[in-house]
Amino acid sequence: MRLLVAGGAGFIGSNFVRRRLAERGEDSVRVLDKLTYEGRRENLEGLDSKRFELIEADICDRDAVRSAVEGCDAIVNFAAESHVDRSIESPGEFITTDVFGTHILLEAARDAGIRHLQISTDEVYGSIEDGSFTETSPLNPSSPYSASKAGGDLVVSAFHHTYGADSLIVRASNNYGPRQHPEKLIPLTVLNALHGDPVPVYGDGSQVRNWLFVEDFCTAIDAVLERGEAGEAYNVGGPDELPNIDVVRRILELTGRDESLISHVTDRPGHDRRYSLASERTQALGWRAQTPFDEGIERTVSWYRENEEWWAPLRSGEYREYYERQYGARLGAGDG
Ligand code: NAD
Ligand code: DAU
Repeated sequence: MRLLVAGGAGFIGSNFVRRRLAERGEDSVRVLDKLTYEGRRENLEGLDSKRFELIEADICDRDAVRSAVEGCDAIVNFAAESHVDRSIESPGEFITTDVFGTHILLEAARDAGIRHLQISTDEVYGSIEDGSFTETSPLNPSSPYSASKAGGDLVVSAFHHTYGADSLIVRASNNYGPRQHPEKLIPLTVLNALHGDPVPVYGDGSQVRNWLFVEDFCTAIDAVLERGEAGEAYNVGGPDELPNIDVVRRILELTGRDESLISHVTDRPGHDRRYSLASERTQALGWRAQTPFDEGIERTVSWYRENEEWWAPLRSGEYREYYERQYGARLGAGDG
């Protein structure tokens, strides 16, 4: 296949592109990415230029998207503003990229007669106390981020329903693994622990997430791209559900730090308590998660230990300013 991968320079997108090119010798990939603070050329370094190209462009740019789609067999759309805390600070970009940008890609895919696979999130269903969400659960997003992703999902479904477009959705739980930006819980905790810095835990840390190793999500995307039915959504949940505080404790163990680094800080506004996905529909395509959390987190911590040149530039500049805005007063207040 010749794939157009939107947002392929980010965390999950770059893992997907690298894996796909390594495992499918006949495939080629064109990445279209705006290279925001999360998208990095370094994530795609070393790929074979005969089978891979990177176009720096915005998915909201109709002309750039139309020309990038030429010659492609399918679009996989990872492009999004993806961090809940930033969406609370400033929602505008989220609505623009996650809703309007998705619609630009859908139009291009529809007009070219090719498949559009939308990468979405469990957060569109909102929080669940017991049990797990299925694909028929109502959408009930609570943050500006999840609302923008739900908006994108609805446009994807509308394109199938209205135009018969070959569009479909995959909704994943929390991913972790190599090349995730340090604003997210797991890399933030790993890097703070390696530096001996306080680790901010929102509220009491009992919020539960359904952790999915990024390689397992990539295999699910392959299955849905190749065997999923147009107009459907497919849930991809990780094998382990864990409270945040247990995740943090495990990382402190793996980095040889003690729990005195944990700092309970003011909670995230509107914080969802628990996410949980039922993934039977994706499993029926032959997919299974292969990586238990204990194994995935060890591999992830090792990757960050061994790849300082990847994360060192990220800990300065824009991230420092963001970190100060997000945590300065909360950590300074010594809530924990
Ligand atoms: P990320 O923030 O690391 O990557 C997003 C990529 O999109 C970046 O490369 C960025 O430069 C690019 N981008 C942003 N705005 C763009 C625009 N207007 N035009 C073109 N490119 C743009 O995110 P991620 O964690 O890799 O997530 C990828 C996708 O998966 C997102 O759609 C996210 O909603 C979804 N998702 C993520 C998780 C998770 O746990 N990380 C779980 C479920 C779903
Ligand atoms: O559920 C899928 C979603 O997972 C994706 O759609 C999002 O793109 C991705 O960012 C992620 O969202 P979360 O908000 O769950 O991830 P984050 O890493 O920001 O936070 C995970 C949990 O840890 C959440 O309950 C908030 C908490 N947290 C987070 C940070 C950054 C802390 O306690 N302290 C922190 O410093």
